[in-house]
Amino acid sequence: MKISSKMKKALNDQTALEADASNTYLAMASWCETTGYEGAAAFYYVQAEEERQHMLKFIHYLNDIGATATIPGTKSPASNFKSLESILKTSLNNEMVVTKAIHSMVELAQKEKDHSTYAFLEWFVNEQVEEEKKFETLLQKFDLIGRDKLAINEIDKILNGMATLPPADSGNA
Ligand code: FEO
Repeated sequence: MKISSKMKKALNDQTALEADASNTYLAMASWCETTGYEGAAAFYYVQAEEERQHMLKFIHYLNDIGATATIPGTKSPASNFKSLESILKTSLNNEMVVTKAIHSMVELAQKEKDHSTYAFLEWFVNEQVEEEKKFETLLQKFDLIGRDKLAINEIDKILNGMATLPPADSGNA
């Protein structure tokens, strides 16, 4: 199967974006772990793993269609953060960047009549809806529950309850 060089570059760039997202979430998990946010740490370790699975989906897709994946280097993520709320805000912003990149690829696939890549990307379009909703809902908790120590402890518990990895074979991994 043949995809355009432009599409190949976009898919490889996305591999790098997912790797960076994984590393960023790992840094957040580590910060949470050392700051006493046990639930948030568990949540972000899972998020890091999820992003790694996203990265792998792109690598496998590129290799499956004979385009050959480029394994990306990753940027050093920030290691110090202001607060749990700021981490969740940064996460939402990062997810919005990812959504935009996925949508650009979908548009490119449409333009190039690249049906295989279009079908492959569908899972990510849906996933991004879920990812953005997840962080938006978590951020609303600060308005609903509060920002004092007890409220943050409550939010940490909510995050702990969300720290489960979806099955590895979900979607088109
Ligand atoms: Fe792989 Fe959360 O975007």
